[in-house]
Amino acid sequence: MTALESVVVSTPQAEGEVYLQGAHVARWTPAGQLPVLFMSSRSALAPGKAIRGGVPIVFPWFGARSDGKPGPAHGWARTSLWTLVEGSADRLAFELTDEGFHVRFEVAMGATLDLALEVRNYTGAEARFEEALHTYLAVADVRQVSVTGLAGVEYMDKTDGFRRTVQGPEPLRIAKETDSVYLNTAATCVVTDPGWERRIVVEKTGSASTVIWNPWIEKTAGMADMGPDDWQGMICVETANVAENAIVLAPGATHRMTAQIRCP
Ligand code: BG6
Repeated sequence: MTALESVVVSTPQAEGEVYLQGAHVARWTPAGQLPVLFMSSRSALAPGKAIRGGVPIVFPWFGARSDGKPGPAHGWARTSLWTLVEGSADRLAFELTDEGFHVRFEVAMGATLDLALEVRNYTGAEARFEEALHTYLAVADVRQVSVTGLAGVEYMDKTDGFRRTVQGPEPLRIAKETDSVYLNTAATCVVTDPGWERRIVVEKTGSASTVIWNPWIEKTAGMADMGPDDWQGMICVETANVAENAIVLAPGATHRMTAQIRCP
């Protein structure tokens, strides 16, 4: 099997790794912390296969392709080979050009993890796309964590036929398979993890959707790239623009979405 090429970051502030395939941030560990990103021990790390964990870049569609053409789940960005265009000790930039989109992804690893996804439309016509930084956060036990920031926000429940529901005032807890697409929210989310006695903050700009995902027991059992108990150690808090929040770009226009992850 061909090994995937990656860039390793190692500074006094943080350790990390980004694969060129998918410009995929696989690890980020700020000094003195446990790893902040979950990575499945059974993930494929092979050309053309999606990586399970870290921060997959979902682009230019979320979920199944809906324009009638064939294409992989969550778009082609996460399995494409990106070009490293800038690299210093802790700042990296990757680019990818396809289907009339020029995509740039900036990563800065330090005491915070700063990510920026910038998309330019050079199709010559108006273009629509969806995107997500499908961030897998590592937690001691997902059943013990709570997530704030989404109170009063409407979401589509993908485990229940996309039924629309409004999140109640109490912090979100995970007690079953969860696949919720929160719409029209720019809010910062805070994951409180009592097991590892830390909070993980996900703050964003240029993003109107947040996706919360945990596959729970049965779905995990059907996934070849997750260990049977892996669902307990992760929660995805995805910075996104999907569904009615999809981005429509004029010809030549650029859109930028950022996420900052930190453990205060
Ligand atoms: C989430 C989707 O963002 O990603 C889920 O809302 C999906 O429906 C999950 O199951 C994982 O997707 P994939 O393609 O990486 O298995």
